[in-house]
Amino acid sequence: MTTLNTETYPKLIRDFFLFDNSVSDGSAHRPVTLPFDYDPSGLLAEAEQLPYDDRPVRRCYVWGPTGQDDPGCDLLSSTAREYTAQIDLERYPRIKQFIDSLNNIGPITYLTFKRMEPKGYIMPHVDSECNPYKIYVPLSWPAGSMFKMFGQGNVDFTGLKPNLINTSDHIHAVVNDSKESRIIFSFYADWSSAGWQKYLNR
Ligand SMILES: [Fe+2]
Repeated sequence: MTTLNTETYPKLIRDFFLFDNSVSDGSAHRPVTLPFDYDPSGLLAEAEQLPYDDRPVRRCYVWGPTGQDDPGCDLLSSTAREYTAQIDLERYPRIKQFIDSLNNIGPITYLTFKRMEPKGYIMPHVDSECNPYKIYVPLSWPAGSMFKMFGQGNVDFTGLKPNLINTSDHIHAVVNDSKESRIIFSFYADWSSAGWQKYLNR
């Protein structure tokens, strides 16, 4: 049962989280285990130092198509073939190592960090212009943070588990109903590459 401790959220957020008591059938989101070791607390320490923008959910664009402005996600219309770091990763060796590990599986096409401040939220929406699938990796998930998908329950980030999420076919909304900021990153990959195919079909 979802609880939402504050009345500070817009009515639609309260309705979205409190009215729909659905549970996941695994089709919209499922936990995944990445095939390499990493240290979430070490990544979090670096992620806290990244140069975030000042949008309501603060973002730091880290990896994407070479020679383009930030497309915002792995766009359905993308014709990119080459992808590079969008900030100097030498200052963030753990993040660089993680990205190298991902690219060793197969190419990743877009990666961004997102920092949500206390009482922050994202209104219900679908990512209609983006690759349907992305993997979310939480680095902090304070109690009161929730990622809800309409008719599909909450995404299970307990233990800072990554999840494969279909954000273009399912309405979703996010809240951080806590007193701490929370940081995640998410990435898209070339899911048809041999390495990612093998990983997803294990
Ligand atoms: Fe979204």
